Amino acid sequence: MIDVIDVHKSFGDKVIYRGLNLHIKRGETHAIIGRSGEGKSVLLKHICGLLAPDRGEVVVDGVEVNIQNKESLRHIRERVTMVFQMGALFDSMTVRENVGFYQDNLGKMDLAAVNRLCNDLLDEVNLPSTGHLLPAELSGGMRKRVGLARALAVQPEIILYDEPTTGLDPVTTDVIGELIHRTSRAHGVTSVIVTHDMKSAYKVADSISMLYEGKIIFTGSPEEIQCSENPIVHQFIHGLADGPITETEEERVSRLSTDLMHRSQIVRRLKSEDMEP
Ligand SMILES: Nc1ncnc2c1ncn2[C@@H]1O[C@H](COP(=O)(O)OP(=O)(O)OP(=O)(O)O)[C@@H](O)[C@H]1O
Ligand SMILES: [Mg+2]
Repeated sequence: MIDVIDVHKSFGDKVIYRGLNLHIKRGETHAIIGRSGEGKSVLLKHICGLLAPDRGEVVVDGVEVNIQNKESLRHIRERVTMVFQMGALFDSMTVRENVGFYQDNLGKMDLAAVNRLCNDLLDEVNLPSTGHLLPAELSGGMRKRVGLARALAVQPEIILYDEPTTGLDPVTTDVIGELIHRTSRAHGVTSVIVTHDMKSAYKVADSISMLYEGKIIFTGSPEEIQCSENPIVHQFIHGLADGPITETEEERVSRLSTDLMHRSQIVRRLKSEDMEP
């Protein structure tokens, strides 16, 4: 379903990937782990056509992701959606408007059908009767669930999640993990989840890959990764198992502003190209 083949990528002098290979099967839930700054979010952005490799290729459902090619981008956009960190909701829109954003703009469904779809999805993520609220009125966990409902509204084949549980308490983390698991199965989607939270990776993922110094150094089931004798994998997962990675305020702000930048890029692209028949 998703093939990342010998991908190289640098930003200026900074080398991010040095021949990265990854294969994700149709219908599986695949977690990507790795230290902060290794390029996990950048990997998701390559899969959804927001960034292009310097060398190598990314193939989604048989078609190479080529951000210069309109047909390729259309193919990706019809299949892939991304759930950004913190939900990345549009603050001036209600929950209903956020969930139905793509369908409202695509104009392929009439208003009553989009309303029904939004209500069904809000029920599915355990947020019934919240359509009229604004994001500012929601907790962090609720925002993430709205972000998930918005992704499902596109009826995607692939959902990319960037740290869906970071910053949540353990109970809400479990609720979100369970929801990802259930909706993935119910809608038959292929899910790729970047996470720092090994416990939820073990629960939700069929396979886990570890990114380290520009390559995937390990792929295996949750059981296999826990028994891995690779010292880097071992240190990473056992070092992290007792608590989330700590992040300085500066790093957090920098990461969130990158997400916001990408969010507006997506909206601009949707408005320009995707609106065409
Ligand atoms: N558009 C960009 N331009 C320049 N550098 C970038 C860009 N996007 C990401 N980077 C850099 O690439 C590196 C990898 O970034 P990425 O966001 O993928 O890290 P990450 O593994 O997701 O980290 P974290 O766990 O902290 O979210 C970082 O050093 C980041 O600063
Ligand atoms: Mg990231």
